[in-house]
Amino acid sequence: MAIEKDLTIAKQNMKMVTRTVDLRSDTVTKPSEAMRAAMVNADVDDDVLGADPTAVRFEEEMARTMGKEAALFVPSGTMGNLISVLVHCDVRGSEVILGENSHINIYENGGISTVGGVHSRTVKNNEDGTMDIGLIEAAIRHPEGELYYPTTRLICLENTHANCGGRCISVEYTDEVGELAKKHGLKLHIDGARIFNASIALGVPVHRLVQAADSVSVCLSKGLGAPVGSVIVGSTTFIAKAKRLRKTLGGGMRQIGILCAAALVGLHENVSKLEGDHRKAKTFADGLNQIKGLRVDSSTVETNLVFFDVLKSSNIVVYELCKVLEENGILVMPVSSSSIRIVLHHQISESDVHYTLSSIQQAMIQLKAEQNGK
Ligand SMILES: Cc1ncc(COP(=O)(O)O)c(C=O)c1O
Repeated sequence: MAIEKDLTIAKQNMKMVTRTVDLRSDTVTKPSEAMRAAMVNADVDDDVLGADPTAVRFEEEMARTMGKEAALFVPSGTMGNLISVLVHCDVRGSEVILGENSHINIYENGGISTVGGVHSRTVKNNEDGTMDIGLIEAAIRHPEGELYYPTTRLICLENTHANCGGRCISVEYTDEVGELAKKHGLKLHIDGARIFNASIALGVPVHRLVQAADSVSVCLSKGLGAPVGSVIVGSTTFIAKAKRLRKTLGGGMRQIGILCAAALVGLHENVSKLEGDHRKAKTFADGLNQIKGLRVDSSTVETNLVFFDVLKSSNIVVYELCKVLEENGILVMPVSSSSIRIVLHHQISESDVHYTLSSIQQAMIQLKAEQNGK
């Protein structure tokens, strides 16, 4: 009787839902009113001809912010990483050292090898997203074996590290990898899709955080909330080569000032909101730990990503839980048969967080009651 009552209440509560909370990624944000206004009013021209004033303004500001000589708007983070790796590895037979769990290694279609002919040497990522310095050094090819080996030319880091739960890579560690790269005549690239999240969480200015890097790619369409684009930064020579490659890859676009205007609003208005996203992620993690059958290691929640486990003992199937949530307007991302990812962004309110937590609790009760009723 108690189970039936639980089920009825859960179903009633969930049926009343009329609200959508989209926690699949920080890429799902819609451009704010201020962004839309800036896009409408943007002063534009042909950027392939180097004449778009808003693009120039945006790239100059971005270069300054990141402490590098120059910047280049690119259509996506994937293209930003691809161009960066290819510029650093412009000789056939080049090799890049990167984390086995990195975005470049897993989610970018192997573009650095299929498009760029660059060989990957992966190193184990620790749970915090770092790679042991000793392992990186051991992976550097010895010049004496050059008759056989590819030539190591680049090391890549990812900050924050997405697949490691949005963990921040410290400035001390980044400097250490930078020193190692220098010692061996290598370049250092940072996939900084969420570098502003890391900077805010660590309390380190972003230009200092990436000081040791020769290039950084930064996503504009994640925490900064812009609708499209990424930016890469580096030396003037690096950016000149990157610009040619962007054209080769079909990423040279015309009136991109429209997109850069939105990115400027993101840079000016949304960086300061990241701290709130991180706080809400913590609230989320603490709340999930109160729900029977779910578990998060709160100490690993450093920024806006929360990965939580659905315990085996609960007998709840991750995909069924996600389905029930989706039917009720809560959108999350299953990442394995035992875990789910949620991502906070500036369009998720405190109230959305509490509402989602109670919806998850209701969904768990509903699934449990259905199981028991079978
Ligand atoms: C760490 C990281 N790097 C790169 C990217 C690629 O960005 P895009 O989707 O714009 O190609 C992503 C996107 O999710 C990411 O999380």
